[in-house]
Amino acid sequence: MAMTDCRVFLCTLLELENGASRGFTVETPAGVEDIFVVRKNTRVVAYRNSCPHTGGPLDWVPDQFLSLDGSQIQCATHDARFRIEDGVCIVGPCAGKRLSAVITVVAEGAVYAEFPFRDGADSR
Ligand code: FES
Repeated sequence: MAMTDCRVFLCTLLELENGASRGFTVETPAGVEDIFVVRKNTRVVAYRNSCPHTGGPLDWVPDQFLSLDGSQIQCATHDARFRIEDGVCIVGPCAGKRLSAVITVVAEGAVYAEFPFRDGADSR
């Protein structure tokens, strides 16, 4: 069986302020996914908007996924903190667990999320 990636356009890099986060609801072959991205210079990371503690969303208002100083991802429900670069929880009730990462591609000024799947099935 051939592995095929589904690439979804999110926004342009210019629409994503450096050091900021932004949420997206995207359609994938496996269904609708709520994800968010964080931009650090030219690097963009993305995760599913689901806290490993309860499975609930991390943001308390749209596009707010970061701590006040912008150095960590912060869950709004019980204040867990996650490293931006790998999604590992470093403080909080789910310490040691990690956010579910989404592959990102930045090409020609555009930001995409990629969702690998096999014959239409989600490969998570
Ligand atoms: S739901 Fe995120 S820390 Fe509890």
